[in-house]
Amino acid sequence: DPVEFAAYAPSNIALSKYWGKRDRSRNLPLNSSLSISLAEWGSHTEVAPSESGIDQVSLNGEVLDMGTAFASKALKFADLFRAGRAQPLKITTRNTIPTAAGLASSASGFAALTRALCGSFSLSLSEAEMSLIARLGSGSATRSIWHGFVRWDKGRAEDGSDSFATPLDVTWPDFRIAIIPVDVGPKSHSSRDGMNHTVDTSPLFAAWPDQAEADCDFIEAMVREQNFTALGQRAEANALAMHATMQAARPAITYLTQDSWAILERLWAARKNGLEAYATMDAGANVKLIFEAQSQDDVTTLFPEAQVIVPFAG
Ligand code: DP6
Repeated sequence: DPVEFAAYAPSNIALSKYWGKRDRSRNLPLNSSLSISLAEWGSHTEVAPSESGIDQVSLNGEVLDMGTAFASKALKFADLFRAGRAQPLKITTRNTIPTAAGLASSASGFAALTRALCGSFSLSLSEAEMSLIARLGSGSATRSIWHGFVRWDKGRAEDGSDSFATPLDVTWPDFRIAIIPVDVGPKSHSSRDGMNHTVDTSPLFAAWPDQAEADCDFIEAMVREQNFTALGQRAEANALAMHATMQAARPAITYLTQDSWAILERLWAARKNGLEAYATMDAGANVKLIFEAQSQDDVTTLFPEAQVIVPFAG
């Protein structure tokens, strides 16, 4: 029977994006991706047997209605571990990601839930196996099993048995990430709907899988060489290419707002004057910057609202 077990997983930002699935039910990607984990920005999740005898899910201190998307997703995921047995669970999640940062927490959420469920059900799985299971919850969760740089290899097997992530053995103490929050209302489309619609309707998507695979390999090589400029240029190009595939979708999907573009324009102007920082954007309006420690003062002067993350702190 399940026991009480708590786990943590960091959120992550892809430097080379996952965008497009070859199998939508198993979250099998059309291309490999590479991310950097966000250290203490993530999810703390506890799984315990439910004393009341019915499933209970809470998020950030609030017990959720069972109809809530998060609650039903978490319980459906727990069913993978319950395998038909009547084992009511209490799932408690607390996200440490500042709400103002507007970052999705499904990556850290499913990775932490995977770790907590493995512990609760006393399964001694390898981290590679946990990465594979986390993938079933959300593709980006595949990479959130580890800290630091992580590569998710797309794999080839139809059942997804070779589609999991691996941490890169690279420590880069000067590497920095900044989130530049952009104020927006509720998210227009989930990343899941956005990528499926793009795959289905965008004439530009055909060019994406091969280019994204090449970008991923190149970015991995630049991480290993710690060649920041080459890494940053390619990561920014990869993100903009991903957004271009969406803009060509019919109808178009646009996550970036005029505020996002204004931040990019400011960044590009500063780069002409020597600033070494590059941007990446996901299925939302926020802009994320990558840079090295020596550029931090310039970045925070240019963007006072920047929230800086140190991925290799102590
Ligand atoms: C733009 O992992 O949220 O952030 O697999 O459908 O849950 P599902 O999608 P999700 O997509 C993330 C897309 C992205 C790029 C990335 O993180 O690689």
